[in-house]
Amino acid sequence: MTDSPTLSTTETSPALSVTGLRKSYELGKDSIPVLQGLSLDVQAGELVAIMGPSGSGKTTLLNCIAAIDRPDDGGVELAGTAIDYGSERARTLLRRRDIGIVFQFFNLIPTLSVRENIALPQQIAGGARDEREARVTDLLERVGLNARSAHLPHQLSGGEMQLVSIARALVHRPALLLADEPTGNVNPAIGRSILQTLRDTVREEGTSVLLVTHSPEHAAWADRICFLKEGVIAGSVTQSGGPENLAPIYAELQRLGI
Ligand SMILES: Nc1ncnc2c1ncn2[C@@H]1O[C@H](COP(=O)(O)OP(=O)(O)O)[C@@H](O)[C@H]1O
Ligand SMILES: [Mg+2]
Repeated sequence: MTDSPTLSTTETSPALSVTGLRKSYELGKDSIPVLQGLSLDVQAGELVAIMGPSGSGKTTLLNCIAAIDRPDDGGVELAGTAIDYGSERARTLLRRRDIGIVFQFFNLIPTLSVRENIALPQQIAGGARDEREARVTDLLERVGLNARSAHLPHQLSGGEMQLVSIARALVHRPALLLADEPTGNVNPAIGRSILQTLRDTVREEGTSVLLVTHSPEHAAWADRICFLKEGVIAGSVTQSGGPENLAPIYAELQRLGI
């Protein structure tokens, strides 16, 4: 296997395909099973929300997809190409080129301005300077932070920092965006702004998004909501009624006892 896979989309391959994923953590002598044969597909241009109890393995799932963590068994394919967990270089390239990650706690660099934080992944990836600048300006506009571009992270609210981290995760036009509870600690207005940004990105760039959230109101913005319980996707709801249609989500949460 080459250590720099080219992720060309074919008509038959989903943007993301997770198959039979297993992951346990060792705790002293015990092995705690977290993912127990989880399978999940996300199509190109699809926004999928993941809901599940605290500790059910949502972050573990994202970490396996981003190759931050290595599954014990099963596999992950991006546009038909299997992630090569054995190659450090392939895993780094994957995060630089194919995947964008929004962490729950921002991970912004405190000494860099908003604009510099957003531009950073692109700077590492290279490319024409004019184009890079235009991309950052475009994203600043998309997340509504034009006026804050010269500010440092500590001068922003938590919600604004999260918007910056979303722009940073999108700057290199990843095919897949992974967002771990991006709306968890923000006020309702910023929450809507984050969801609108994700929807706009899916529509305008055909990005696939996997969004972890505890909020049914936020999950309702997705095309499909998958429920993680006992290490597998135990149920799902296809969202046809738009963000107003909460009843099927509550019904599934109740059915699964989440
Ligand atoms: N690095 C780790 N070492 C040991 N246990 C871990 C580690 N990461 C996660 N876990 C455990 O795995 C389970 C799932 O964690 P996590 O994926 O963070 O859940 P969620 O994001 O759904 O709240 C939890 O019981 C957690 O304590
Ligand atoms: Mg988590």
